[in-house]
Amino acid sequence: MYGLDGTISSLDSERDQNFRIDTPSGDQFVIKIANSAMDPAVLMMQVEALAHIVMVDPELPVPRVLYSRNESALEWIQANDGRSHYVHILTYMPGCYPPDDSTSRALYRPLGACLARLACALRGFYHPAAKYELLWDLKQSMALRGYLHHIPDPEHRQLAGYFLDRFERVVLPEIPKLRSQIIHNDFVPNNLVVAEEDPGEIVGILDFGDMIYTPLIMDLATLIADLFRGPEDPQEIAVETIAAYHEILPLEPLELTLLYDLIATRMTMLNVIGSWRVNLYPDNQEYIAGYVDSVWENLMAWRNLDPAEVTRRYFRACGFWESEELVLSKRVSKETRSTQLERRARLLGPCAYLFYENPLHIVRGEGVWLYDEEGDRYLDVYNNVPHVGHCHPHVVKAISHQTRMLNTSTRYLHGLILELAERITNRLPEPLSVCMFVCTGTEANELAWRMAKLVSGNDGALITRHSYHGNSDAIIGFSSEEVPFEKLPAHVATFYAPLSNTTYREPDSGLHEAIETLGERNHRPAMLIFDSGFTSDGIYTPPSGYLRILYDETRRAGGLCVSDEVQVGFGRFAQHFWGFEFDDVVPDIVTMGKPMGNGHPLAAVVTRPEIAEALAADTGYFNTFGGNPVSCAAGLAVLDVIEVEELQQNALIIGNYLWERLLELRKDYPVLGEIHGAGLLLGVDVLTTDDSPDPDLARRVMNHMRQNKVLIGTTGPNNNVLKIRPPLVFNQEHAELLLASITNALEECV
Ligand SMILES: Cc1ncc(COP(=O)(O)O)c(C=O)c1O
Repeated sequence: MYGLDGTISSLDSERDQNFRIDTPSGDQFVIKIANSAMDPAVLMMQVEALAHIVMVDPELPVPRVLYSRNESALEWIQANDGRSHYVHILTYMPGCYPPDDSTSRALYRPLGACLARLACALRGFYHPAAKYELLWDLKQSMALRGYLHHIPDPEHRQLAGYFLDRFERVVLPEIPKLRSQIIHNDFVPNNLVVAEEDPGEIVGILDFGDMIYTPLIMDLATLIADLFRGPEDPQEIAVETIAAYHEILPLEPLELTLLYDLIATRMTMLNVIGSWRVNLYPDNQEYIAGYVDSVWENLMAWRNLDPAEVTRRYFRACGFWESEELVLSKRVSKETRSTQLERRARLLGPCAYLFYENPLHIVRGEGVWLYDEEGDRYLDVYNNVPHVGHCHPHVVKAISHQTRMLNTSTRYLHGLILELAERITNRLPEPLSVCMFVCTGTEANELAWRMAKLVSGNDGALITRHSYHGNSDAIIGFSSEEVPFEKLPAHVATFYAPLSNTTYREPDSGLHEAIETLGERNHRPAMLIFDSGFTSDGIYTPPSGYLRILYDETRRAGGLCVSDEVQVGFGRFAQHFWGFEFDDVVPDIVTMGKPMGNGHPLAAVVTRPEIAEALAADTGYFNTFGGNPVSCAAGLAVLDVIEVEELQQNALIIGNYLWERLLELRKDYPVLGEIHGAGLLLGVDVLTTDDSPDPDLARRVMNHMRQNKVLIGTTGPNNNVLKIRPPLVFNQEHAELLLASITNALEECV
């Protein structure tokens, strides 16, 4: 019939007769001869389901169907007693049954994950024969009542009745609300084979004989109920299995709410049917009764649990918090803008200033768009922190996934931190190979400062004249944008930022003089630090030769060179991933932050091994939150998106386009001066008619654009530079909106 020959051996089975055939060529198959009462339509459904699974998820280890010479998946034979039996043949799944302590920890997660994959593969499958009466169908559990009298012990009978009553009260009314599909319905260790060398690797899923159309969650209840065999805490088993399942096929709150009862019902089912079968097949009594006894014990323990507490654990394993609705309903309060402004001033104090004359109340972000509380959307041409776009799904998913898994500190081994450190250092030249994670740009610069002082033995700093490097006590002293010149600390001296993208103040931008000034105050430079996009100084790319001169001179004076890449790192300047790459230099220390976590607080310091070693030998360094697994997941996701969506290239294309169009606009509006920067960090000077900086006009243009729902900023020593710095997913269409808005604002404001 199938053209097979070979040696035949018998296999165990509850309802069918199964044989293994070993062919001379070494292939192995299972011949399944169905019970004569078996409905051929149900058999056909099983066979078609296998073909469907193989098509949808070929990696799932399910048997393949062998077709007969008639190209049929199902054949029939006549037995000696004259009855006909349907036959089908499947490939044999080699491997071994999970070891007797099959409920070992190594298997719980793979079981949950594999079951979820199987359910996903069956999602699109339907067969009319899938709706049939089956005693093993959990949704039909009320039928078990008719079998209760087979339970000999009255206490056990009472226990089974107790859980069937609960099923009737708690589960039955909810069944119509549950998502349903065809499920395996007997995915338990006995129906699986695992790799000989790795009991945690499932290599075969067997026995699709109980498949049925029923609520999806029944599959998981069936599996969990079967796992309670060893000494392991049942709740641990359940939580592990549920969490792994949920990661692949997210569970719904109602499903989780019913799990306590469904697991109990499945255990009840095992024992009611088990007791019935003991009566039916007294020969097997010893085997069945042994198993049944252990399930009674489990059921008794189950009854002593608090269902609400159990459900709470299942909810949390899936990232749900049972009190969420209660808390959120209390929190959502409508408040007028003026009361919010007043409350804010009172609660946050006067340092928390707001952007724009008419401040925004933003509640949602997506890509380059921000949405206010009224649902109005604004084109975000200002924010560089959401580097790959507000709420990028890949970043959001990475963060939420890792938050659910674990969040600790660098005091434990973890793969993500190494992967991120590797991907960052791979982007930097040798010998910058040691990456230390922190949470903010300020912390990164603070750490750089400590290293620089330690290694140089000096205590002076060289900064540009309108810089910003952070907010801590030490670093605010390097932020001349914030601190008036006369108040800068004595150990800090300034030099000049570039004059344009291509020019700088000859011969050395005043660095020599700055070093001399430090000397006059009895300080020598420990570090030179500047934002390599000069964002606060007006926005420039480093002109050719500029960095080389500064680096050489600093090093001659004994200082280290720190490249602050907090603004422009990660490809914003398009041509290069880091700002310092515009010149032929290698910094001693690179600091980075803002875009690194797309809004998640993540920053880093990368340096040479010997500098890190010097710090370790001195005080060492620990940062509670720096480099935690969630931050690292965010950082990795950002790098993924930059690469996959080719955002550096996008910054180049759109940045060049904007540049060209702004040059054209200048012809119509002479108040627009030089354009500088690169990629998606551009500065446009706004000037008076006699070519001096016009901060007032720049501010009015910015506020006019805000009213028209396009958000930009201003910067520079005179605050007359329009700052164009959108998320890197800014495209041509967004560029047109921006240009139209600038044109309109100039039309109205000039
Ligand atoms: C160039 C530069 N360095 C450092 C910082 C400080 O970063 P953070 O605000 O994350 O402390 C900033 C912040 O604006 C910055 O622009």
